[in-house]
Amino acid sequence: MTMARDKWFETVSIAQERAKKRLPKSVYGALIAGSEKGLTVSDNVEAFGELGFAPHVVGGPAKRDMATTVMGQEISLPVVISPTGVQAVHPDGEVAVARAAAARGTAMGLSSFASKPIEEVIAANPKLFFQVYWLGGRDAIAARVERAREAGAAGLIVTTDWSFSHGRDWGSPKIPESMNLRTILRMLPEGLSRPRWMMQWAKTLRPPNLRVPNQAARGEAGPPFFHAYGEWMGTPPPTWDDIAWLRELWGGPFMLKGVIRVDDAKRAVDAGVSAISVSNHGGNNLDSTPAAIRALPAIVDAVGDQVEVLLDGGIRRGSDVVKAVALGARAVMIGRAYLWGLAAEGQAGVENVLDILRGGIDSALLGLGRASVHDLTPDDVVVPPGFTRALGVDPTRP
Ligand SMILES: Cc1cc2nc3c(=O)[nH]c(=O)nc-3n(C[C@H](O)[C@H](O)[C@H](O)COP(=O)(O)O)c2cc1C
Repeated sequence: MTMARDKWFETVSIAQERAKKRLPKSVYGALIAGSEKGLTVSDNVEAFGELGFAPHVVGGPAKRDMATTVMGQEISLPVVISPTGVQAVHPDGEVAVARAAAARGTAMGLSSFASKPIEEVIAANPKLFFQVYWLGGRDAIAARVERAREAGAAGLIVTTDWSFSHGRDWGSPKIPESMNLRTILRMLPEGLSRPRWMMQWAKTLRPPNLRVPNQAARGEAGPPFFHAYGEWMGTPPPTWDDIAWLRELWGGPFMLKGVIRVDDAKRAVDAGVSAISVSNHGGNNLDSTPAAIRALPAIVDAVGDQVEVLLDGGIRRGSDVVKAVALGARAVMIGRAYLWGLAAEGQAGVENVLDILRGGIDSALLGLGRASVHDLTPDDVVVPPGFTRALGVDPTRP
């Protein structure tokens, strides 16, 4: 898909500004997310600013290679779409994101709380990893995973870093239980202040339905978002045996997302996972958790030769991707960056964001004199003293 020149945005920050203008306040607020004081959500981004580069001036490589693989899928740049359970941003939702990712040659994680059925999303991009939360116990989870397998999912992402922390110092958006006539009327003034967003939905002749179709059997509408959320809150959290059970049941490529400690990374390896993402859920879980990039080096040291180590949290530029890869990540996953793009310009906006990241990776490789993302090393990054955090390292054990 090509985008008219006047719609092109040159940075993720501009996409965010545009998303803010286009989305109703409550929908924009849901994308900002974060918890408590927002310490982690800002550290995720700010920490990348503490890392430096020392570029060469002559002798750069004429061509730079970015292709790699993640969980068996070939991707054209080390950036994967992270799963986000966001509703109402765009009528095409995850299908638009999947098309954009496919057009730019990369893979996508699809949230259990997504607004589109997995079968439709896979039709747009077969490089799809289905994300599950520990919700409803083993039988219910097995049924969801089997549906994903039948649909052709290339891998599973299991996200367990969620502690149901809700308060935000800047206030949480008021998200309705469901979109009945009463809520539509209540939200009408908010919608009318965002005519472009309203028109997109008006054209579909359906308001956002706030249901989660992948929490039910194929072909069913699925429960309302908050119903599923309540059930999740009531489900006892998984044990490491549960993770090993699910890994065994799935049998294919399997990522545990949200690892921030070295001891957990080792347990994940013991449970048989093929990949982990060093992550704090984009700062939406326990506030005061350090930035994911600070925790990455120690985890790479501990398990980097046994599983694929990815990172997500705070990626806004191609240079951030290069910093993460130099510090040992195989690839990164992005959340808000593509959500801003989706809100701003739909599929073309997500492609725009991926193009920004690709351009930034290319510039950084050129400056650093590296012909490939595979040649990056920690020496390519200036890491200030005290930057990293080795969490969960037992000094008494080797
Ligand atoms: C609005 C929003 C919804 C999210 N929903 C999910 C989800 O359903 N499942 C999941 O595994 N992670 C979810 N995440 C976390 C992202 O996958 C990812 O870890 C995070 O956004 C990365 O940080 P970034 O936004 O700074 O890139 C969500 C994040 C945001 C911002």
